[in-house]
Amino acid sequence: MPVSHKELGFVNTREMFRNAMKDGYAVPAYNFNNMEQIQAIITACVKSKSPVILQVSKGARDYANATLLRWMGKGAIEMMKEMTPSPIPVALHLDHGDSFEICKSCIDNGFSSVMIDGSALSYEKNVEVTGKVVEYARQYDVTVEGELGVLAGIEDEVSSEHSHYTDPAQVEDFVKKTGVDSLAISIGTSHGAYKFKVKPGESVPPLRFDILEEVERRIPGFPIVLHGASSVLQDYITMINKYGGKMDNAVGIPEEQLRKAAKSAVCKINIDSDGRLVMTAVIRKVFAEKPGEFDPRKYLGPAREDLVKMYMSKNENVLGSANRY
Ligand code: G3H
Ligand code: 13P
Ligand code: ZN
Repeated sequence: MPVSHKELGFVNTREMFRNAMKDGYAVPAYNFNNMEQIQAIITACVKSKSPVILQVSKGARDYANATLLRWMGKGAIEMMKEMTPSPIPVALHLDHGDSFEICKSCIDNGFSSVMIDGSALSYEKNVEVTGKVVEYARQYDVTVEGELGVLAGIEDEVSSEHSHYTDPAQVEDFVKKTGVDSLAISIGTSHGAYKFKVKPGESVPPLRFDILEEVERRIPGFPIVLHGASSVLQDYITMINKYGGKMDNAVGIPEEQLRKAAKSAVCKINIDSDGRLVMTAVIRKVFAEKPGEFDPRKYLGPAREDLVKMYMSKNENVLGSANRY
């Protein structure tokens, strides 16, 4: 029996993106796999009055169980309503769906938005599978994100060593033929914690804002998505390395560049790795300082506190999504 996202209390991304485009900010899309992460995301977004996209990858569905995840999403909505008299809009989104079948399964299971990532396919096959997902999603008022151009790094099962930037000449045709609601593009970001090979002290290469501007010129007012947008916060890298970890040369996208992108047609910014780093760093610290500790609440709790602070700071200082509700 299909479950509608509306019954669960989720909204699709249409109005979120319209507002973000009009007011020059980006909606955060934060990945979650477990209870502490979803609690932290909702708490931070309620406190900072930000809309939010709860993002679930195929790997997250396999890890946490698809049914449990959906009810965790519903639980997050109920928790949010208890926390504030002015509810924030929350979307439940499939991240990097790699087939029509997984997108359909998510739409049938209460997701309000899905990504079909056909970026590893030929252009024609990408158009074909994306169009098929859009046609199905329309019937349920679910919004669809497509992707053109390839990011380096791991995108779930879709992995690539080298990126290739989005070709602006293709975007108009892609959007028209598929009917997607938003488009992920490749302008120099990549997934994971090692985004650039730079020597200590060297600065990272800037994002290709020229490609973004050309895309905006060709599809004015169309919502653009940035994947691989973690900044790989160096305080947490230092903490990880100090307490027994080894993450040398981990580096991400500088926050100023994301701030600039958020003011443009970029309406959704995807952040996963920064959350992973915060959790890992804080848990390592607790373990190092209190080697006798064995109550998960005593190390997951502090990790959750730092996650809340980190997400609030993203909303307030980077994406500009704070104080919108
Ligand atoms: O883009 C990839 C996201 O960070 C999800 O990662 O597939 O390991 O859950 P995952
Ligand atoms: P990061 O690895 O930079 O957090 O990117 C996350 C992402 O794009 C999820 O789709
Ligand atoms: Zn991604």
